Amino acid sequence: MLALADFSTRLIAWQRVHGRHDLPWQNTRDPYWIWLSEIMLQQTQVSTVIPYYARFLARFPDVNALAAAPLDDVMALWAGLGYYSRARNLHRCAQVVSEQFGGAFPQSVDELAELPGIGRSTAAAIASFAFGARATILDGNVKRVLARVFGIDGFPGEKRVENAMWTLAESLLPDAAHPDDVTAYTQGLMDLGATLCVRGKPDCVRCPFAADCVANVTGRQRELPAARPKKTVPTRKTWMLVLKDGDSVLLEKRPPTGIWGGLWSLPEAADEDALAAVAHGFGGTEELHRLAPLTHTFTHFKLDIEPRLAQARGACVQAADGETVWAPLSEIDSFGLPAPVRKLLDALQGSLI
Ligand code: ADE
Repeated sequence: MLALADFSTRLIAWQRVHGRHDLPWQNTRDPYWIWLSEIMLQQTQVSTVIPYYARFLARFPDVNALAAAPLDDVMALWAGLGYYSRARNLHRCAQVVSEQFGGAFPQSVDELAELPGIGRSTAAAIASFAFGARATILDGNVKRVLARVFGIDGFPGEKRVENAMWTLAESLLPDAAHPDDVTAYTQGLMDLGATLCVRGKPDCVRCPFAADCVANVTGRQRELPAARPKKTVPTRKTWMLVLKDGDSVLLEKRPPTGIWGGLWSLPEAADEDALAAVAHGFGGTEELHRLAPLTHTFTHFKLDIEPRLAQARGACVQAADGETVWAPLSEIDSFGLPAPVRKLLDALQGSLI
């Protein structure tokens, strides 16, 4: 196995020759520039970030300018980058730095990690790039590099595995390093993960760790890092009633708590006979027509839906209690409906039944 002390030496040497050196947020130690880039890069790739980054810096040249701007302006400039809570946190963070820190970012990882939108890894990236701090990052790219080079099994999103990776990452930091070494080291971790040790087809031939990398040596690049374990979720089944009166369907308000709390939905029953009784109770025919079943996946279970169609007999029952309503199919979009119910009714709107 690769000696821990060799890791940083080799990575720094590789970064200086083969790493990235001309990204817009490199070659500066300005914490505002670095912080802004790290937030934008959290869930977005470099090529997408670059034009946004340039526009932000042109419009908000320092943290005080950003703090003083209306949130709407920040959101407008962020539009298209996605994950918009990042923009709201960015603005709040700028205000905290401006108002509570006199416009100067704190230098310690712990203080940085207290600021809105800055987690442990982002705090470490800022501290190492801006202040040369000996601080370790651990983002998705770094987890992939460590899992492969050191052969770490287990899904990195699992707390136990993640904790082990933090400990390993900390032990790999170059010791008593010059600030420029820390910068090269941190950038090297990012560069290796982004340019060679990529998820799909890693370029092991060019990797400085090829000879020692557990994944490369054992041919397990595709298995490391381990994928998120597939959850086996229980399945529930429900029967839903599409009771039609002309072009309207009967909707029922769901209780405020539980799944789809407070949304409008279709009346339900636990089996077909019970659904026929429900249809009858609402003044519908008891004869039910089968519609195409559908499945909806929640976090903790799957719901198989068996929809059945019935027609209202004669004049439709009054639905004036606020809990049920006859909704014209043409106006169905104005009701808050669960996604599968919307899908079902959208399909029905175009059909002749
Ligand atoms: N991803 C996150 N931080 C980055 C950085 N500083 N350079 C390139 N990619 C990154």
